[in-house]
Amino acid sequence: MLLLLMLILLSHAWSVKPQQPPQNIFILAGQSNMAGRGGVTNNTQTNTLVWDGIIPPQCQSNPSILRLSAKLKWVQAHEPLHADIDFNKTNGVGPGMPFSNAILTKDPNFGVIGLVPCAIGGTNISEWKKGSFLYNQTVGRTQAALQGEGVIRALLWYQGESDTMTREDAELYKQKSEKIFVDLRSDLQIPMLPIIRVALASGLGPYIDIVRKAQLQNDLLNVQTVDAKGLPLEPDVLHLTTPSQVRLGEMMADAILQSMLSTNKTGSSFSNAPTKFSNFVSYSLMISLLLCSLCLY
Ligand SMILES: *[C@@H]1O[C@H](CO)[C@@H](O)[C@H](O)[C@H]1NC(C)=O
Ligand SMILES: *[C@@H]1O[C@H](CO)[C@@H](O)[C@H](O)[C@H]1NC(C)=O
Ligand SMILES: *[C@@H]1O[C@H](CO)[C@@H](O)[C@H](O)[C@H]1NC(C)=O
Ligand SMILES: *[C@@H]1O[C@H](CO)[C@@H](O)[C@H](O)[C@H]1NC(C)=O
Ligand SMILES: *[C@@H]1O[C@H](CO)[C@@H](O)[C@H](O)[C@H]1NC(C)=O
Repeated sequence: MLLLLMLILLSHAWSVKPQQPPQNIFILAGQSNMAGRGGVTNNTQTNTLVWDGIIPPQCQSNPSILRLSAKLKWVQAHEPLHADIDFNKTNGVGPGMPFSNAILTKDPNFGVIGLVPCAIGGTNISEWKKGSFLYNQTVGRTQAALQGEGVIRALLWYQGESDTMTREDAELYKQKSEKIFVDLRSDLQIPMLPIIRVALASGLGPYIDIVRKAQLQNDLLNVQTVDAKGLPLEPDVLHLTTPSQVRLGEMMADAILQSMLSTNKTGSSFSNAPTKFSNFVSYSLMISLLLCSLCLY
């Protein structure tokens, strides 16, 4: 009896050991500036968009940075991160790689990072509402990413350029985006999922400031904003350049490390309590069983 219990306990401990899949999962969602257009320019001769292929050191691949492919497999991440997700468009450098590299540089013990790219260029906030294709894909891909031992550290959200065309859309942005965050947290069963969102640097229409105001005023808990305003843009005056994406990635990394540090200090669990909790419950159960059987013995 005792031997059996010890065996169960051991095998359980084994299965809980971190394996190949990443420990620290980040969801990347939004439109083109999250998908990445850094280094993408218009070849006026052929009138096509081409990526210059320039990958600065801050965006290099690293065995500790994985991405969930369109086929839901963990693979080593490389630019362009959204190539198989935003596949109708010419993708370039986005914030995901420099974000991950900045975290690993600042905290070498952070552990393997798993990025879940979900951004699609040109999408407005209505296309992200609960029940939509984009929403479902984000929830489905995140659930697939959680099959291992990983914990979702945050949702990184950069979207809204398409909602600046009419005053009405811009004014509805606050309510619509907050609803999506609340729904996502609820459907992912992570009520306090940290969200880092970007305040726009550009937009397709004249109502950028109304959308920015919504993005800079966070009424939900655990939502932080990183401001992209002023970061240099490509000649299209819409997309962040590669150096701008590097800077943005570093700003997001600072934001996440800062918030993890402060939650560590307060001692509360940072996110995704359910996974940890279920481990805790099964361990406690095993240990009490073991103690019980020892007494009986
Ligand atoms: C590329 O540039 C040409 C010439 O300036 C312009 O007519 C065309 O709309 C541009 N195409 C894209 C996809 O930006
Ligand atoms: C790609 O284009 C096809 C055809 O227009 C469209 O049905 C599909 O939704 C697009 N997918 C993405 C990810 O942009
Ligand atoms: C958002 O995008 C969809 C698809 O392109 C479009 O049908 C819709 O009119 C756009 N705007 C709003 C406010 O829904
Ligand atoms: C998204 O998922 C919901 C629930 O499974 C489903 O009812 C809905 O039709 C899906 N939407 C799309 C666009 O596939
Ligand atoms: C927070 O605490 C955990 C567990 O003690 C540690 O692994 C992690 O490095 C800490 N994070 C930061 C940002 O200090």
